[in-house]
Amino acid sequence: MEQVDEGKTILAIESSCDETAVAILRGGKHLLAGLVSSQMELHARFGGVVPEVASRNHLLAAPNLLEKALHKAGLEVSAIDAFAATTGPGLAAALMIGTALAKGLALAAGKPFLAINHMEGHLLSPFFGKREIPAHLALVVSGGHTLLVDVKGVGDYNVVGRTLDDAAGEAFDKVAKLIGLGYPGGPIIDQTAEGGNPNRYMLPRGMRDSGDYQFSFSGLKTAVRYLLEKEKNVSQQDLCASFQEAVVEVLADKAIAAAKHFRHSRIAVSGGVSCNRRLRAILTGVCAAEGLELHFAEPWLSTDNAAMIAFAAASRLERGEISDIGKDITPNFSSF
Ligand code: KG4
Ligand code: ZN
Repeated sequence: MEQVDEGKTILAIESSCDETAVAILRGGKHLLAGLVSSQMELHARFGGVVPEVASRNHLLAAPNLLEKALHKAGLEVSAIDAFAATTGPGLAAALMIGTALAKGLALAAGKPFLAINHMEGHLLSPFFGKREIPAHLALVVSGGHTLLVDVKGVGDYNVVGRTLDDAAGEAFDKVAKLIGLGYPGGPIIDQTAEGGNPNRYMLPRGMRDSGDYQFSFSGLKTAVRYLLEKEKNVSQQDLCASFQEAVVEVLADKAIAAAKHFRHSRIAVSGGVSCNRRLRAILTGVCAAEGLELHFAEPWLSTDNAAMIAFAAASRLERGEISDIGKDITPNFSSF
């Protein structure tokens, strides 16, 4: 019987922040295994991610997760065609764990290594499993970054807007901490805001009228702090709804404006904050009214995972790209 070529099998490791993840992807679309081990609870008592705690726990979790993923896929390491890891941006000591492991596997197996940018993983995730990445305006909203990107195709990314201070997810996390709601703040604020009045507290819309595609969320955070200091009996529900509205309104406004400016008929939204129900609702409404196509990463692909890293690696490999095994990590993000 003729052997059907299902494409290359890639094993990817993600360890940029507080999630250790391993995925095995075949042919750029068949996810044979996608495992995530979250350290969220470990960090919750500190109200944020502690870098050294994160890297130690990646070291503890990664080998076990790797074995489980291979077992789930029913594969031996020798069946993997290429190994990929997130090499940045992220916490340096955390990135090194996944990167060293993927490089070691690639060296031992004599297979290629691919260094993948975490933000590219997020950016491509709304098109997971697709062979072609259409031109679009990307809104990437995570805990560490807020980017508007003019995307022409795989590897052709022009960052046209970013935050000047806090990232959108970071604003959610910090404000949740101020209100005393716990970590991570995004999902908790999303829940608490349900049914709340988004117009109860007038909060600033950072840089909404700046005429460019930059963001700023630190003034909003300060405004919430002042409000909490000044007012007694603040309604948590209304405050969460008002804060959330202030963030997502600016994100949606600028994404639409940038899509128009850069002549895109398509917007794709990714990163942890893309799970936000109010952001989804606003963008869905405006894009329908404006005749813009809208893509979201599926929720399981929105927060940190290795499937998106494997997919980005597959898209690169498909174009014949591999990385030097000596490639360093890049903790900071300046551009793609
Ligand atoms: O992409 P991600 O998992 O990690 C980074 O690369 O940073 O994003 C995590 C961020 C956190 O700040 C979290 O609070 C936020 O995404 N987040 C949300 C929601 N779910 C997660 N923010 C708003 N609404 C949500 N439903
Ligand atoms: Zn992320």
